[in-house]
Amino acid sequence: ATRAQAEGHEPGPVVLAHRGASAYAPENTLAAVDAAARLGIAWVENDVQLTRDGVPVVVHDTSLRRTTDAEEVYPGRAPWAVEDFTAAEIAELDAGSWFGERFTGAGVPTLTQYLRRVERNRQNLLLEIKSPETYPGIERETLRVLRAEGWLDRAHVTHRLVVQSFGAESVKTVHARRPDVVTGFLGTPSPADLPSYAAFTDQINPSYTTIDAGYVAAVQKLKGAHGRPLRVNTWTVNDAAKAAEVAGFGVDGVITDTPDVVRDATR
Ligand code: G3P
Ligand code: CA
Repeated sequence: ATRAQAEGHEPGPVVLAHRGASAYAPENTLAAVDAAARLGIAWVENDVQLTRDGVPVVVHDTSLRRTTDAEEVYPGRAPWAVEDFTAAEIAELDAGSWFGERFTGAGVPTLTQYLRRVERNRQNLLLEIKSPETYPGIERETLRVLRAEGWLDRAHVTHRLVVQSFGAESVKTVHARRPDVVTGFLGTPSPADLPSYAAFTDQINPSYTTIDAGYVAAVQKLKGAHGRPLRVNTWTVNDAAKAAEVAGFGVDGVITDTPDVVRDATR
C-alpha cells in the first residue's frame, strides 16, 4: 500500500505527516516518525538545519527555544540559535517534554538518526532544507548524509525521497549537485513564472491559503525537471472540510499534522 499510495494508485491525494504526525507527538522527533508509522502513513516531512560544527539536525525553528529545554540547559546563550550550538550540545537537549510528559527524553535527532528511523519504518521522506540562507553549504552536507545512509541509491531517489525548500537557490543547488534527486519548491510562483521553476523542480508545494483548482491545474499541466507533470503538495491542512476541499482542487498531496483526519476525509 505504501508504494501504491506514493505512486497514486490509491484514490485521493498522498498524505504526508508534517514534522511527523506532529499533532500526536513532538514535531521533528523520532516519536513523531513512529506516530505516523502507527497510523500507516507512508510519507513524513521534516526540517533540516546545520549545527555550529556543520552537522545536519532535524528541527523547525532557527532557535531551539520553543521545542527544547535549551534555555534551562544553556542559560545565557540567547537566542539559542541552532547555528550557535554544536551537535554534541544539541544532543543533550530534551525536545519532547514541552509537548507532553510522556515524551520526556526525546531528543533533537541528527539527520542520520532520523533517516535510520524512517528507513526502519519503511517510510518515505519529504526533507525540507530550512532557512538555507543561514547555512552556507547545507545542501552539500545534507546530500553527504543522505548518500552515506543509502538514501541516494536508485530506489530511494526514484520513489522514496523528495528534497524541498522555500529557497529557490537551495533547490537549484540540490538539483545541480544531484540531478537524480526529486525536488520541490515551497511557495506559490505566479503562473507566468512557473516554467522557470519547472527547469529545476518536480513539485510546487504551496500553502493551502494560496491555491484554487485553477492554480493546481496550471501547475500540473507543466512538466518538471524529470519530465513528469509537476506535482502539488499543499500545507498545512489539519481539518477534514479543508482537506476535502483541496482534494477537490486535484492536489497530488496534503501535508498535515493530523494525517489520519486527512486520510479519512479524502478517501
Ligand atoms: O512542508 C511544508 C511546510 O512544512 C512548510 O512550512 O514552516 O511548517 O516548515 P513549515
Ligand atoms: Ca517544513
